Amino acid sequence: MAHVFDRAQDPPSAGFATERLRLRPFAEKDLESFAAYRRDPEVARFQSWDAEAYTLEKAKQLFETSCQEFNVPGTWYQMAVADAETDELVGDCAIHFLEDGQQVEIGYTLAREHQGKGFAREAVDSLVHFLFFVLKKRRIAATTDVLNARSVTG
Ligand SMILES: CC(C)(COP(=O)(O)OP(=O)(O)OC[C@H]1O[C@@H](n2cnc3c(N)ncnc32)[C@H](O)[C@@H]1OP(=O)(O)O)[C@@H](O)C(=O)NCCC(=O)NCCS
Repeated sequence: MAHVFDRAQDPPSAGFATERLRLRPFAEKDLESFAAYRRDPEVARFQSWDAEAYTLEKAKQLFETSCQEFNVPGTWYQMAVADAETDELVGDCAIHFLEDGQQVEIGYTLAREHQGKGFAREAVDSLVHFLFFVLKKRRIAATTDVLNARSVTG
């Protein structure tokens, strides 16, 4: 698969492309869809947030706190995963930039209607390439519940 990246020093303003997707910064227009899939109990089942309480207001707060500054040690950055053709939000990838500046932790979520198409694998594969080969991070970790089979096998 071809990976199209910005220059190493760029923040992901233009995002980066995979075959079917574009990983790009979140925009305000994404927030309704984002809150909607975070409210889906199936999507939230193994995640840290409370689906019932996931309002648009919460999505806006996350947008203010975790979608503005990129690659800052000690912070999380939430990236949108969008359909490359329509720019519709299909999910997101979260990146935790650890304090040492060399390691990251990642997370990923797809709206239920976009699961089962290989999108998570495609997005995460591209993200991992970006983190290792463009940002030159040395270690990438992810944690999942052992019962979260879709995440473990993806
Ligand atoms: C974890 C999660 C992102 C995985 O999504 P996913 O769509 O199952 O993952 P993948 O991208 O690996 O897709 C694999 C599926 O797509 C299918 N698929 C269809 N077209 C495909 C293609 N072109 N390429 C690859 N796989 C394809 C595969 O056969 C596989 O289906 P199967 O699981 O029924 O065998 C998703 O379940 C999710 O968002 N869960 C809720 C949030 C969550 O728990 N996140 C993880 C926290 S650690």
